[in-house]
Amino acid sequence: MCGIVGYIGKDNNAGEVLLEGLKRLEYRGYDSAGICVMSGNKSKTFKAVGKVVELEKKIGKYRTDTTMGIAHTRWATHGKPSVKNAHPHSSGKIHLVHNGIIENYQELKEKLIKKGHKFSSETDSEVVAHLIDEYSNKNDFEQAVFAALQDIRGAYALVMLSEDEPEKMIAVRNSSPLVIGVADDGFVLASDASAIIQHTDKVVYLDDEELVIFTPETYKVKTFAGRNKYKKEQTLEWNDEQAQKEGYKHFMLKEIFEQPSAVADAIRGRIIVKDGLAKLGGLVDVEDKLRDIKRIVIVSCGTSYCAGLVGEYMLEEYAGIPTEVEYASEFRYRKPLIDKKTAVIAISQSGETADTLAAIREAKNKGGLTLGIVNAVGSTIARETDAGIYNHAGPEVGVASTKAFTSQLSILVLLTVFLGRQRDMSLTMGKKILSELNKLPKKIDEIFEDGKNIKRIANKYTKYESMFYLGRKYNFPIAMEGALKIKEISYIHAEGYPSGEMKHGPIALIDKDFPSVILAPKDSVYDKTLSAIEEIKARGGKVVAITTVGNEEKIKKHANDVIEIPKTLEMLTPLLAVVPLQLLAYYAGVKKGFDVDKPRNLAKSVTVE
Ligand code: G6P
Repeated sequence: MCGIVGYIGKDNNAGEVLLEGLKRLEYRGYDSAGICVMSGNKSKTFKAVGKVVELEKKIGKYRTDTTMGIAHTRWATHGKPSVKNAHPHSSGKIHLVHNGIIENYQELKEKLIKKGHKFSSETDSEVVAHLIDEYSNKNDFEQAVFAALQDIRGAYALVMLSEDEPEKMIAVRNSSPLVIGVADDGFVLASDASAIIQHTDKVVYLDDEELVIFTPETYKVKTFAGRNKYKKEQTLEWNDEQAQKEGYKHFMLKEIFEQPSAVADAIRGRIIVKDGLAKLGGLVDVEDKLRDIKRIVIVSCGTSYCAGLVGEYMLEEYAGIPTEVEYASEFRYRKPLIDKKTAVIAISQSGETADTLAAIREAKNKGGLTLGIVNAVGSTIARETDAGIYNHAGPEVGVASTKAFTSQLSILVLLTVFLGRQRDMSLTMGKKILSELNKLPKKIDEIFEDGKNIKRIANKYTKYESMFYLGRKYNFPIAMEGALKIKEISYIHAEGYPSGEMKHGPIALIDKDFPSVILAPKDSVYDKTLSAIEEIKARGGKVVAITTVGNEEKIKKHANDVIEIPKTLEMLTPLLAVVPLQLLAYYAGVKKGFDVDKPRNLAKSVTVE
């Protein structure tokens, strides 16, 4: 999730406008930044690793005397943070910035290399610059962009310049955000309105498969099919901070709502449904070693630990590999039995958690094969593991992890299919899991339609001081994660427990003031879960049940309140069941007046032991 900005107009300080815009977009990622400004038909590009201030030091006099330019603040997805991987990317006279993922960049890159193109970065984005440059041999700028669009697949917002047509800027949007600001002196476009509102409150929201051609005086929107499109200008009513949150009250809520795209981005370009295969580029180098692995140990902390627990169930049931999950903070203080037939997987959003890093170093020391499931590209865990899979979830700002969690689960599904198909998972099973995984972004969206009901339930239960979160099999880890969320955000004491184990002790706590949230999807343990609900009801405890759509009426006989989630494969229910629990925690925290984005005593990334 990078941030991009473009400016074209009559004002003579494009460099200034772009730098200012980048600073406001830094929350979208800040491992490197770059800018390309035009003066006449001469371009000048500057890049720097780190925050925008580093770039600012380099740009000097080009802040002014420039009427057009593009800029980018990067959150790495392909290629580590470095000057050469920073945007803008160029080929010949074409310069561009990109936010998104080009799924088929490898095959396009190979074709372009054969045609003599020389690449200077490891990014997927650079391919687009070369492609447009290639088509520019026989076409004007606009035609070349249209031609390139026929070839690229994936999610992208692109803003492009050509030194051959210095009075023109072209932008496209497909599944990555892009907003146009219509100011008195020109046009500012950006990934979100936070980089625009200081110039104008008049905006145009682009839709997918739209292309815009700008000159300093005007702009024209076309569809990818080449038809002109009328777009209505709207008036922005947000302040700076609201714009960064895209109108959501908190980053946490925004990130909960980003989960359909976080899941889609995690699986984008990594699924070959017809062959029932997961394509994981980051594991290519260790593919043969993984074939020989006899055991998996997952090490992680907090929410990432709960994701690991779901992974254990998936990997054992579908890949047939004995798997254990360990709190990273415990791992190295006992005597972990690791050998070269053991894969030790670190799951970490930040890639910097000290406990997880220490566990990985210990595993390496003992000769294990180390893998990372990491969101932050180029982070220490990503660098120190032998191989890994990036989440592509974009930066998570809210301290309580939400979209990183569903993204981690998506990756664990892919990994299960990858390892399972190396072993005895059938083609049919591979296809079944992957085609259902593909449907999850839409199914998560459906849960949001029940938002009012979830908020009502949250408001009703905030008065209690303690709660149980119970689940069985795949949803036991979700009970743990639900309890963790409500503890973190609303400071309600909660215990995440296996619903079958509850009767062996904790049930003593149940009374009318100790409610339980129970995960009761219609799965293979549904009847057992119903028994747990009955045991609680018999002791006067209140129950909120999370169940599968269509089962509401039946479960209402047992539960006080019900939240429905769409039907899916049992192994995938955690990706849906966690969403209402995140919302419950969020609404409870808001109701109690807490700062849900920055809960007390917590840090987003804990880099000390
Ligand atoms: C901190 C955060 C948690 C997070 C955990 C692991 O404790 O507050 O939200 O789950 O670290 O972080 P990681 O970046 O390794 O996933």
